[in-house]
Amino acid sequence: MKGIVLAGGLGTRLNPLTKVTNKHLLPVYDKPMIYYPIQTLVNAGIRDIMVVTGGNNAGDFLCLLGDGREFGLKHVHYTYQEGHGGIAEALGLTRHFAEDDSICVVLGDNIIENNIVDAVKAFEQQQQGAKILLKEVPDPQRFGVPELSGDRIVRIEEKPAQPKSNYAVIGIYLYDSTVYDIVETLRPSGRGELEITDVNNAYIERGQMSYAILNGWWTDAGTFESLLRANNLVAQTGANKLV
Ligand code: G1P
Repeated sequence: MKGIVLAGGLGTRLNPLTKVTNKHLLPVYDKPMIYYPIQTLVNAGIRDIMVVTGGNNAGDFLCLLGDGREFGLKHVHYTYQEGHGGIAEALGLTRHFAEDDSICVVLGDNIIENNIVDAVKAFEQQQQGAKILLKEVPDPQRFGVPELSGDRIVRIEEKPAQPKSNYAVIGIYLYDSTVYDIVETLRPSGRGELEITDVNNAYIERGQMSYAILNGWWTDAGTFESLLRANNLVAQTGANKLV
């Protein structure tokens, strides 16, 4: 399995913090934000990792991460997203890297308390399709929200005004290699982006989507409130624990 960290985008919700740098280079307590999703992949046993970034500060990722030695890696792969066509567009740029492997995609602003080892193992047994992770949240309207029926996801709605559950689809996704064919069928959403939720709904329609509930805390860090929350959570309890 290969790992992909998506660290592009304009980070407009964090202006002016993101006026002269990329969101994923901002500090979360004692480390740059992007350290956390990389550690999430490394802790899941994934060693072959590509970082997708964009904008004016893409070179800074190379200065910061280099060959990934700090994470025990031999090499880090990089690619560049021109413009801001969305998470699913960024994912599409990694096709040549993934080849026929399955992938674990982590959004660069998603931080977890523990690890995803169990979900990755379960997905390896599943062999095809996709697996997502859910977490109960107080503000589901900020996220992709699943409608659940028993142990099945019926559909995911992106930032619904009236959420059909109290769960967020967190920004960690496990996909087989057919994900790239799905990305090619997508059309831009109302916000002009290729949405990861549309990718997930395509797997649901095929009957090939499973899910697990993440244990431990999870947060994004793309707004002032969630960035502050991420800093506090990491400072109080630490992130990326192996147990
Ligand atoms: C993105 C996804 C959303 C997901 C969230 C997790 O939202 O579109 O489905 O729940 O990441 O962090 P965005 O942060 O781009 O608004």
